[in-house]
Amino acid sequence: MFYSDDVIEEVRARNDVVDLIGNYIKLTKKGSSHFGLCPFHNEKSPSFSVSRDKQMYYCFGCGAGGNVITFVMEYENYSFLEAVKYLAERAGIKLPEVEVTEEQKRTQNRRQQLLDMNKIAAQYFYYQLKGKNGSQARDYFEKRQLSSDTVAHFGLGYANPYRDDLYQFLKKKGYEDGLLKDSGLVSIDEKKGAHDKFWNRVMFPIMDVNNKVIGFGGRVLGDGTPKYLNSPETLLFDKSRNLYGLNFARTSRQSFMIICEGYMDVIAMHQAGFTNAVASLGTAFTLQHGVLLKRYTEEVILAYDSDEAGIKAALRAIPILRSAGLRIRVLHMTPYKDPDEFIKNLGTEAFKERIEKAENSFMFEVSVLEKSYNLGDPDGKTRFFNEVAKRLLAFSQELERNNYIEAVARHYAIPFDDLQKLVNRYGMTMPEREIVREERSFSRRSADSLQYPEALLASQQLLLTWLVNDTSLLKKIKPWVGWEDFVHPVYQKVCQAVYESIESTGQIVPGQIINLFQEKEEQKLVASIFNSNIAGIEDKNAREKALTETVVKIKRNHLDEMSRQIHDLGELQNIIKLKSDLQNLHISL
Ligand code: GTP
Ligand code: MN
Repeated sequence: MFYSDDVIEEVRARNDVVDLIGNYIKLTKKGSSHFGLCPFHNEKSPSFSVSRDKQMYYCFGCGAGGNVITFVMEYENYSFLEAVKYLAERAGIKLPEVEVTEEQKRTQNRRQQLLDMNKIAAQYFYYQLKGKNGSQARDYFEKRQLSSDTVAHFGLGYANPYRDDLYQFLKKKGYEDGLLKDSGLVSIDEKKGAHDKFWNRVMFPIMDVNNKVIGFGGRVLGDGTPKYLNSPETLLFDKSRNLYGLNFARTSRQSFMIICEGYMDVIAMHQAGFTNAVASLGTAFTLQHGVLLKRYTEEVILAYDSDEAGIKAALRAIPILRSAGLRIRVLHMTPYKDPDEFIKNLGTEAFKERIEKAENSFMFEVSVLEKSYNLGDPDGKTRFFNEVAKRLLAFSQELERNNYIEAVARHYAIPFDDLQKLVNRYGMTMPEREIVREERSFSRRSADSLQYPEALLASQQLLLTWLVNDTSLLKKIKPWVGWEDFVHPVYQKVCQAVYESIESTGQIVPGQIINLFQEKEEQKLVASIFNSNIAGIEDKNAREKALTETVVKIKRNHLDEMSRQIHDLGELQNIIKLKSDLQNLHISL
């Protein structure tokens, strides 16, 4: 942690949530809340609410929620510290100097200088494209049917054929050789001197999610080799953590993203209105790419080239994307090679149809597998279904597995029961370690509530929600339920904070309690406590009964838990006594 809790709390308190969010989206006042269209999911009527009293926001459609810091983290894709810095500046708060080492300062400084330099270089390339030397490159883009709007949107440019024109240009701007070398834009040779890395190529600036230029790709104008030349990895440019087009795609507000292979595919797709297309930067897909995408979407559609290499790349990417917790479908491009060609020949509507028809990734894997067996031969057919049966075991949930067995059986017109029996037989005999389990480690970890029973979590959340809606309940609840009785660490912390706040001030500021958490997922969970609608129970007796039952359920669960780890008889007697008290408990309001 860099800043003290007090500093962070001040930053939060000095940025009013309605003012801040009102700068990003249009809000309309309704009752005590302000409403608008949720910026985190696609919707036509407003379910996004912002409350000045609570100093928080909450979307009844998608569950996004939190305080000002959460909003900035979520909207600008900032880290916690970046969000705090941004909001401090907005409120005119001078943050205390943090201890940074000389080394850190130098790196930070260097990063900024490289970012500045890249921006200047991108402007230079764009200028070259528009200038008198750029006619060949302009013709090239025209031949590829890119409009001048598209060229400007992606900031495309041209590196002229002079060997050190960019070097001289940047040198005049005051950049030193050392920094120029580190940018990857020039090489400096002892004997031959400096020369530009890119010449006589059309240029594609590569931006990170915050629209900062971090590197470049350059394509030959004709058929030369290498076809594409990319910036080397630098302090800024990490190919395994960035995706081309994601800066635009992340705000496309579609429920899925399209992954394709090349720069030109992404550009052609965006031009055709598919603004949710991204591509990896001429490298294989990595888990980091998957995790990055998972921040913005639940589902991806693979639109790789239809050739052998494209199929191989898809087969490699699928398990990686799966382990990032994404749903995957595969788009069929035949008879064309890539999205760029497809759209030019068959148009946007046809591509939309292909998106709708995109195949489930497991079925895609099976259909590729099928090609290496001769299904006309009884032996080949048997071996094929045995292999498929083994793979079906990867689905650990029975319902899901049966759905897939059904899909495969239907596709190959074989009886469901036969295939299910085969799968079950493998399930009994195959050692656990040979089963390729669907690895969903990442999604599991972020939604770690999965390790607790849903119903128990629900009643614990309900109790907290009740309490924050009616702080006078504290004296009724507290004798029975303490923070240790909550199973989820987030609930424990919320319980402590809520009790403390009511006792010391008689009220609760939700935004302040959300501030105790730094992870977006946690902030969202806390926000939902403060915004759940508790159905108003009219009848007083019914209200008392519901509250009593909830308290009993939570307490009893904890007592059961404790009785499993008893150390002495005294403890046991204590637990028995508490349990019998619970049986007779009636909370009156
Ligand atoms: P066009 O031929 O211009 O349509 O290119 P494309 O974007 O369709 O690319 P292609 O399918 O040929 O290749 C996919 C991606 O792989 C490209 O966008 C580049 O990122 C990368 N790539 C292709 N050729 C080369 C190369 O020669 N060197 C390197 N480093 N990367 C390449
Ligand atoms: Mn292409």
